[in-house]
Amino acid sequence: HWIVDKSGITHQHYPQIKEAALLIQDGEVVAFPTETVYGLGGNVKMDSAVQKIFQAKGRPSDNPLIVHIAERSDVDKLAQKVPEYAQKLMDAFWPGPLTIIVPKKEGVLSELVTAGLNTVAIRMPDHPAALEIIKAAGIPVAAPSANRSGKPSPTTAAHVLEDLSGRIAGVVDGGETGVGLESTVVDCTGTFPVILRPGGVTQLDIEAVSGKVEMNAAHNDLKEPPKSPGMKYTHYAPKAPLYLIEGTNGQIQHKINQLRAEGKKIGLLTTEESERFYEADAVLSCGQRRNLESVAKRLYGTLRSFDEQPVDMILAETFPSEGVGAAIMNRLEKAAGHRWIEAE
Ligand code: TXA
Ligand code: MG
Repeated sequence: HWIVDKSGITHQHYPQIKEAALLIQDGEVVAFPTETVYGLGGNVKMDSAVQKIFQAKGRPSDNPLIVHIAERSDVDKLAQKVPEYAQKLMDAFWPGPLTIIVPKKEGVLSELVTAGLNTVAIRMPDHPAALEIIKAAGIPVAAPSANRSGKPSPTTAAHVLEDLSGRIAGVVDGGETGVGLESTVVDCTGTFPVILRPGGVTQLDIEAVSGKVEMNAAHNDLKEPPKSPGMKYTHYAPKAPLYLIEGTNGQIQHKINQLRAEGKKIGLLTTEESERFYEADAVLSCGQRRNLESVAKRLYGTLRSFDEQPVDMILAETFPSEGVGAAIMNRLEKAAGHRWIEAE
C-alpha cells in the first residue's frame, strides 16, 4: 500500500508511522487514526504547518485545534494551570476520548493553533498509531478531524481521501476507528468542569470522577459568543438537507409517503430494529438502537453514504440523549442545522 500526496495527481500515499512522523516534523500534514475519528496532524510549533491544516480542511481560522500528546508530562509544557479536578479526569480517562481546555503557556505553540485564545485544548488519544506518531515526531501534534470543514468526520482512511486526497501529504491507514464520534471537550478553566462537546466519555462518567459537572453544548443562545468556537458552524452534514423526525414507525412512514407524493426523493436514517418497517428511496441503518455505541460508531459513515443515494431530503430518527446518546443527538442536531419535521 502506498499513495496520495500533496500534488495530488495520481498516486495515493499510505505512509508508515516513521514516515508520517518525519513528514509532520518537516511541516507537512498527515492524517492518522485515533480511537475516535481520523485526525489531520501537523507540527504544533510551525505556523506554516498549522496553516496547511486550515487550508486542507477549508476551516475558518478562528476555530482552534486540539493539541495531541503521548506523554502526560507534556501537559505541563503546554498548560499554565491545571485544576485538581482536571488532573483526576486525565487520570481516569487518558489515553481516551477526553479533551481538556486549560489556560495555555505563552510562546510554546504557534498562535494559529489556539486561534487567538489564551486557552489550549489537549488530548491523549487511545490509539497505538496516533501515540507512536506523536512519540516519533517528538513534538505535540495539532490535529482536527481529517474531513473537509462541514462534512462528517472520517472514520476510515477512505473517508479521509474522499475529502482530502491531493490536499495532504498522506494518510496512515489504521482501518475503521472505534468510538466513531469526536472526543468529549471539557472546559477546565473554572471551578468545575463544563462539557462543551459531548463525546465518548459521558457526563455521568465525568460526574463520577469530579462530582459537579455542567453541560453547555447546546449553547444556541447567540447573545453570547460560543465558548468553543467550533459550536457555531454547521457540521457533519451530508449533501442533501437533513431533518430530525420523531414519532412511531407508522407516523414516520406516513410523513415519508406525503413527501414522496410531492415528488421528493426521501432518504431515511434509522436503526436495525426499524429498518424493515420503512419504504423510502433509501433506508439506511446506522446500528442498533439498543446499543448506542454501535450507532456512534457508524453514524458518520452512514451520513456519508447518503451522498451516493438519489435523495433530495433525509429524515433522521432521534435517540435518547443519555450516555453516548447525548453525543449522537448533538451531532445529528448539527447535521440537521437544528431543523425538525413534524410527523403526525
Ligand atoms: O476526537 C477528537 O477530538 C478528534 C480527533 C482527531 O482527536 N479531533 C477533533 O478536532 O474533533 P476538531 O478540530 O474537529 O474539534 C475540536 C473542537 C472544536 O469544536 C474547537 O472549537 C474546540 O475543540 N476547541 C479547540 N480548542 C479550544 C479552546 N482553546 N477553547 C474552546 N474550544 C476549543
Ligand atoms: Mg471536526
